[in-house]
Amino acid sequence: MKLIDVLNGEAVWPPPVWLMRQAGRYLPEYRELRGQAGDFLSLCMNPELAAEVTLQPIRRYGFDAAILFSDILILPWALGQSLRFAEGEGPVLPPLTSRAELAALRLDQAVHGTAPILETVRRVRAGLDDSRALIGFAGGPFTVACYMLDGKGGGEFPRTRQLAYEDRGLVEGVLELLVEASVVYLQGQVDAGANCVMIFESWAGILPAALFRDFVIAPTKRIVAALRAKNPQLHVIGFPRLGGLMLAEYVRETGVSAVGLDTVTDIGSAVAVCPQGTVFQGNLDPLLLRVGGEVLGRGVDAVLDGFRGQQHIFNLGHGITPDVKPEHVAQLVEQIRASPPSARRPPES
Ligand code: CP3
Repeated sequence: MKLIDVLNGEAVWPPPVWLMRQAGRYLPEYRELRGQAGDFLSLCMNPELAAEVTLQPIRRYGFDAAILFSDILILPWALGQSLRFAEGEGPVLPPLTSRAELAALRLDQAVHGTAPILETVRRVRAGLDDSRALIGFAGGPFTVACYMLDGKGGGEFPRTRQLAYEDRGLVEGVLELLVEASVVYLQGQVDAGANCVMIFESWAGILPAALFRDFVIAPTKRIVAALRAKNPQLHVIGFPRLGGLMLAEYVRETGVSAVGLDTVTDIGSAVAVCPQGTVFQGNLDPLLLRVGGEVLGRGVDAVLDGFRGQQHIFNLGHGITPDVKPEHVAQLVEQIRASPPSARRPPES
């Protein structure tokens, strides 16, 4: 598996490629199947259809990795918080307001509630050839807590940020539960056949540095340590989106084996500050997949060149949007696969 080889530190060219949100609404075959499944949550909880959706982009593009088709909010839902995906609005949850409501969420319930997801993992692994990796995932505890405490997305999460100062114990309680639940859930995915796991901390970037340490780095470190205690070789890809200058500390302290870079992060700066041997994933601007053509081509080259000499998994800096043209994704994959190993390589220093 090229993806696992890169994570193991082997030299691989061209770099393995997969894209965040590679299964989704930009694909006509997804839209068709989604129409049959009813709502998004029903699709996630249907192992047969979820496995099929996971495999759709692999068949179409031959990506080096499949990512489990599910959502980071399945975990709070399985813990007992209700959840719906409103059309055009994104996820909606009843915001958690008290310790009593937190105490009503149950870890044992999550084990039962996520069983269909683990069945999807088994089916996808059985449907993939040995050269392709299956990536399991969970949301980063802080990002999931943002949705649980604010009740919806939007990127500001004003309640969560205020609670961090006014009722820190409640935020910590939610994070504590999510750390425990994420360890059990990710271990379940590994046992079901996931070859590595990724932690999507999409809203890491809204915190000041001290809170980033306590709410992003510390919980992630606990998840990574607990998983490694059972699976010493397991690779964990962290994605502390918009973490800015906290990136290097995140990589050093959490123990993740690879880090996803967001779109805004300068590749050279990230390489300069992260420990030697860090494996990088990213970070093409997803907007370029709307544009296509030469502009996309130059963007892909810039990412390939930026990471030359590093362990690199080609990806976007954030997920594909529904308005992307499928043929632009094909163009991207072809270009990466055809890219010469040594052209534009910077001189060895
Ligand atoms: O990457 C993949 O293809 C795997 C599946 C996956 C989904 N969501 C499917 C999905 C993964 C890994 C996620 C992670 C996720 N979910 C994150 C972290 C990554 C990121 O994008 O920052 C977050 C913050 C969420 C929460 C979430 N789920 C939002 C905000 C939305 C609404 C936005 C939208 O695009 O509609 C979702 C819904 C969702 N999750 C969809 C998909 C394919 C769209 C559902 C549909 O078909 O209508």
